[in-house]
Amino acid sequence: EGNTVAVNHPLVLHHVTRLRDRATTPEDFRHLVSRLAVLLAYEATQDLQTEPHIVQTPLTTATGGRLRERIGLVPILRAGLGMVDPILNLIPEAEVWHLGLYRDEETAQPVKYYSKLPPDRPVDVALILDPMLATGGSAVSALAELNDWGVKREKVLSIIASRDGIAEVGSQYPEAEICVCAVDDDLNAQKFIVPGLGDAGDRMFNTLEPQ
Ligand code: PRP
Repeated sequence: EGNTVAVNHPLVLHHVTRLRDRATTPEDFRHLVSRLAVLLAYEATQDLQTEPHIVQTPLTTATGGRLRERIGLVPILRAGLGMVDPILNLIPEAEVWHLGLYRDEETAQPVKYYSKLPPDRPVDVALILDPMLATGGSAVSALAELNDWGVKREKVLSIIASRDGIAEVGSQYPEAEICVCAVDDDLNAQKFIVPGLGDAGDRMFNTLEPQ
């Protein structure tokens, strides 16, 4: 896919594999999501614009640069929350705009339950954060809201995406970039990514029903 980057790096492979492992505890799961979020963000922010910025070092002046765009992190609740703090650590000036979406269990369609985007002053670049891109419905819904807000550059950062999900986002929002750690081939009847990692929100927040 033209606008999709799959980060191909030994650390990404190492940590994604541990994330998939059903034996990984919620504590470890959260740490792994943090590390992968940083690696994804490093890739996804390569084209952020800077402006020259001069500082005085203890010895002389140095011409450097600083970020000159307003950057919005847009976590999709719940699982996207696990990607916020590590990326804020990289981009402390970023704004965080939460979107609440859950997938209806019958239809797999996203249902909105929280959105407080203001009417004006959209960010210059929005990074949509969600560890899973399954059918792509949640990402498409987030992109629609951000477009309504007036955002001109949007990127979707997901740890694991399905082929179908990438194709869906690409067909509805061809200009949006998708940055992922792994692409899986299948979706099952419940629209879970296969092999995937199960339900990211439940594994992260330790809310899995006992088997
Ligand atoms: C999961 C996941 C994504 C969405 C992906 O969330 O975290 O947000 O589904 O599916 P899609 O690409 O088919 O839309 P879920 O609805 O389980 O909510 P949760 O994060 O609160 O558990």
